[in-house]
This record gives sequence, structure tokens and C-alpha cells, in this order.
Amino acid sequence: MASGPFLLSFLFIFSAFSFHFSNANLVLPVVKDNTKSQYYTTFLVGTRPSTRVYLVIDLANQWSWFACDLYGYNTNSHEVPCNSPKCERYAPGTFCSGNACGALAYTPWSNGLFAGDLYEDTVSLYKQTQQNSLAQLSKVYLPKLPFTCADKGPLKGLSPRTKGVVTLARVPVALHSQISSTFKVARKFALCLPSSTSLGYNGAIYFGGSPDYLSKSLITTPLVINPNSTAPIYSEGDASVEYFIKVRSIKIDGTPIRFRSSLLSFDIKEGVGGTKVSTMDPYTVLHSEIYKTLVNVFVTKATAMKMTRVASVSPFGTCFSSKSVVDNAKTGPAVPIIDIIMDGKSPLLHNKNARWRIYGANSMVKVSDTVMCLGFVDGGSKPTTSIVIGGKQMEDNLVEIDLETSKLGVTSSLLRMGTNCSKFKGI
Ligand SMILES: *[C@@H]1O[C@H](CO)[C@@H](O)[C@H](O)[C@H]1NC(C)=O
Ligand SMILES: *[C@@H]1O[C@H](CO)[C@@H](O)[C@H](O)[C@H]1NC(C)=O
Repeated sequence: MASGPFLLSFLFIFSAFSFHFSNANLVLPVVKDNTKSQYYTTFLVGTRPSTRVYLVIDLANQWSWFACDLYGYNTNSHEVPCNSPKCERYAPGTFCSGNACGALAYTPWSNGLFAGDLYEDTVSLYKQTQQNSLAQLSKVYLPKLPFTCADKGPLKGLSPRTKGVVTLARVPVALHSQISSTFKVARKFALCLPSSTSLGYNGAIYFGGSPDYLSKSLITTPLVINPNSTAPIYSEGDASVEYFIKVRSIKIDGTPIRFRSSLLSFDIKEGVGGTKVSTMDPYTVLHSEIYKTLVNVFVTKATAMKMTRVASVSPFGTCFSSKSVVDNAKTGPAVPIIDIIMDGKSPLLHNKNARWRIYGANSMVKVSDTVMCLGFVDGGSKPTTSIVIGGKQMEDNLVEIDLETSKLGVTSSLLRMGTNCSKFKGI
């Protein structure tokens, strides 16, 4: 499997460097598939024999699932029975699939829902232990992760290195929910999505919280509930299981961009609006009205900085000649800074509104040796969600979802300068 070396280097990083950890002690590696811009993890499922699976990380799915047959996974006696209290807790009002509780497999790209049985089995993860100031990794087992088996249908669009997804959505069957309830750790998880696939550059998901020195440096904003489901199938009255935040404005080099502020709220009549984070979208997707004004202001500021526009490269609408952009070692290409101003005051910003600061490293996508593009895409005039913060904008940041305090935290810009996911591992 191509991912072997990545996993090895991940283990190496964790065992070779000093690391302070108190509230975060469970962890899984994250690898980026550069061609698809997807982020995946890996763990063992089952015992004697166990099967190694590679699964894309999804903050939106209602279920974890993988192509059991393709992995040679034997489902024998791991079914969650229909009409059992557990089935009712995991899948309220679900259908029965034979004698098993029913679950659905899907990706945003499969244009279909694939019904299957719900199973539960052991999965492996890593625990950090501190010995002589060295962080050591040992394997621990989560006794029951609920998932369903899929055939090839929903695999459409997924990284070819993977054969399924693992969900970190706001659902009781999600991996983080199962970890918190089993290991009695805080209901939080933090993602460091890596920007590169190169060796030693891997990301991580921390369960139970973030490493100590980082959790003090997160800028936080309240998580909000979207009252209208964003899933492909749902029952009336279901809220969304995704992670939404309240954005107040967007500034480029300090200049606020103008668009209807109603796009930032939920329109419960139409069931649209708001801002969410998504690991399944490689780049931030904006409602057309926001996209157009963002591009206009960005281009004006960029032109003043003597950046030269060149023909755009799909899916981007705004590209520049790389020669006209100075590269800053710490923050990437020196381009106008994009600030997403969010609800909540931050002590790290002298009690001003929390902001998600996006430097060139997270805003610009290198499409060739000579061209780089603004890594935001136009979501059309009728998107379900007005702002979808995508993978590129989260990379090499720590993004923490804290369900204890109902907050999303993102690495403050000061800490982020010249850092990457390896840095977050304590190097
Ligand atoms: C959105 O949710 C609210 C509250 O549950 C509900 O009244 C409304 O009908 C929903 N809108 C749509 C379009 O489903
Ligand atoms: C990112 O991590 C790699 C691997 O550890 C390191 O070589 C590189 O210098 C780091 N880059 C930055 C900008 O910190």
C-alpha cells in the first residue's frame, strides 16, 4: 500500500520528539492525497484477523462506511440488531435491513444513497504516553465503532487510496463521539490537515483536545446549529449534523467586502445560508455574490501590490503570474490577507472579534511553475450554504471542534507563521 511510508514517518515523529500533552492523548494520522485534495486516516478494524482500512475524513456524513468486500473484511456476527435500544440510539427512526439496523453509505459525489446493515467492531488508534519527556505511542483499541458496508457505488469521487469514509460529524456514531464515551475524554477533537504528502509532513487528528501549548493559542468562536439539515436525506425537523459558525464580515487587508449580510444567517424558510467547515471541499466555496466582491477587492489590492493577472485556470477565477509575487518564508506568497471575522471576542486579539486569518500559504494555490490562483471558488447563486470553508484554508492550522463548550477554535495567526502540521506535533 502506497501509504505505508507515511504511517511509518508519522510513528517516527511521535516517538522521536519531546512533547507536552495532558488533555489530548488519543491520536490518528492524517495523510493528504494531493491529486484529489482529500485527507484520509488509517486504522485497523476487527481482531484476529484485523483489516487495515484507509478512509477519507468527513465532517458531514451521517455514517462511517467502507467497501468491506474490497478490504476482505468479514462482517460475521458484528451486526447491530434492528429494534435494539442501540439501533434506536444510533439511528433514531431508521429502517430495518433484514435483522440488522439500517444505515446509509454516500459521498457528496455519488448521487445516490446506498442502504446497508449497521455493524460494530473494534478499531485501533494511538495513545500518547509520556516517558522520560519523550512522547511514546502505544496502540489502544476502541471496542465498538459503528459503520456500514458499501459496494463500489459511493466510492465515486473518493481518493483512490481509500475505500470509504470515517465520519466526525455531530452524530452519536461518529468516531470522536465513540472515543469520548469509551475513554471518558473531553468531547473535542482537533484536525491538522497537512498541506503536503511529503514524508514527515503528515497531519493528525487529536481526540480529547489539542496539545497543551496549542489549546491556549486558539482563537475561538461559538459553534451554531443550522436548524435545517444539509444531508442528502433527512426527516422533517432534523437539524444539520455539520459544524457551522457565525461569520460577521470578511476583510481583505482590512477593507470589509460588501454583500448582503443576510447570506451569513440561516434562512429557515428556504433552509439555506450560514457558514460551515468541510474537509470534502478542497477550496472554500462562496455564494456568487460573496465570491464576486471578494475577487474584486482582492484583485484591486493585488494590482496595487504589482501582482500581474494571467488567464484563469479552472476551477479558479483569479490567477496571477508567480513571478509577480514575492514569496515570504513564513506566511507563503505575499498577497492581500483575508480575514474572516467571526462571532466572539478573543483575548489573543485584545478582545476584538475573533478572526480566521488567511495568509498566502492558505489562500494561493500553485497550479504550475508560473501560475498561482486564489484558492476560492464560486458556488453559484443558490448554494445551500453561503460559505463553505474548505481544506486548503484549514491546512497546517489546527482546527478544533469543542463540543463541551460548543466552540470552534483555529490557530491564531501568530502561532501559525511558518508552521505546519509537523510543528503541531511538538517538533
Ligand atoms: C428549517 O427549520 C425550521 C425549524 O425546524 C423549520 O420550521 C423550517 O420549516 C425548516 N425549513 C425548511 C426549508 O425545511
Ligand atoms: C514543515 O515540516 C517539515 C518536516 O518536518 C520541515 O522540514 C519544514 O521546514 C517545515 N516547514 C515550515 C514552514 O515550518
